[in-house]
Amino acid sequence: MNKILVTGGLGQVGAHIYKYLKNDFELILLDNLSNAKISPPNDCLFIKGDILDDAIYSSLPEIDFIIHTAAQISVKKSTKEPVFDAKTNIEGTLKLLEFARKRDIKKFVYLSSAATFGVPKFLPITEEHPREPLSPYGLSKLVGERYTMLYNSLYNLPTTSLILFNLYSNLQKIDDPYSGVISKFIHLIHLNSSPIIEGDGTQTRDFIHVQDVVSAIKLVLKNDKSNGESYNIGTGKQTSILELANLLLKIGKKDLSINYTEPRTGDIKHSYCSISKAQKELNFNPKIRLEEGLTEIYYNVV
Ligand SMILES: NC(=O)c1ccc[n+]([C@@H]2O[C@H](COP(=O)([O-])OP(=O)(O)OC[C@H]3O[C@@H](n4cnc5c(N)ncnc54)[C@H](O)[C@@H]3O)[C@@H](O)[C@H]2O)c1
Repeated sequence: MNKILVTGGLGQVGAHIYKYLKNDFELILLDNLSNAKISPPNDCLFIKGDILDDAIYSSLPEIDFIIHTAAQISVKKSTKEPVFDAKTNIEGTLKLLEFARKRDIKKFVYLSSAATFGVPKFLPITEEHPREPLSPYGLSKLVGERYTMLYNSLYNLPTTSLILFNLYSNLQKIDDPYSGVISKFIHLIHLNSSPIIEGDGTQTRDFIHVQDVVSAIKLVLKNDKSNGESYNIGTGKQTSILELANLLLKIGKKDLSINYTEPRTGDIKHSYCSISKAQKELNFNPKIRLEEGLTEIYYNVV
């Protein structure tokens, strides 16, 4: 079996890589536990360590693939501690790329973010859309993505970046920067309280289920044509926050009104991506419909 090193292996995406890929690959999960969502599983190798710690790299066994999910993911924290954010997301990524360059790695997968685009200048957002991040987090993720591309062109390291839009799963937390709104609504509806919408609810996002993200990761692992490329990973569909609230009320079978508060300052009005490139070049087709994905998490919130 091929071996995959998953950095951030106990995080939201890492835990789902473990769930969906553990039968097909030998997984090595590396995590510093700073934002872990699961305990280390006992049927694969877990290494407690930090991607910034040089000593960790000499202790790693032979590896075929690297999926780099470890990151500082809070936009808020990135504005309060931009140096910490850059250290984890830029220097951490660079150290891992250096490690990969010295080994015979078949693919390095980097998870980038829709936050690298900034305010959309046109919709749907394509991979060619200008990148003008609004936060240190968006910038650090972009620099990580660019280093990943550079290691392909400069050192011939097989790398691919996946630009994730609003990923959701049963492991996300209320303060999740991408889809925390889903957790907040579910929390309130479970308590028989009205969901609270910031603004008028017409703002839209592209919500993608974590299982579809793991499918995209699996598709690039053995796809050499994707070397040096970045792909948008979303559904290609936009959902308004009002639609989201109504869908969750329907799923929870609750007849509650919706409350509205002031809009968030600087909130992006609409965001959704084009997935044509991933469809064409990776054969990527998201399968989980929003209602199905939300039903699963409504009844399985951790
Ligand atoms: N969640 C989303 O919607 C979304 C959207 C776009 C991009 N992304 C990207 O996807 C990746 C995974 O996101 P997630 O939601 O699983 O985040 P997460 O915080 O749940 O998982 C990240 C994991 O990395 C670990 N970690 C953090 N710093 C580390 C370090 N220095 N060394 C070792 N481990 C470290 C944390 O403990 C955590 O378990 C991130 O790179 C993020 O930027 C996520």
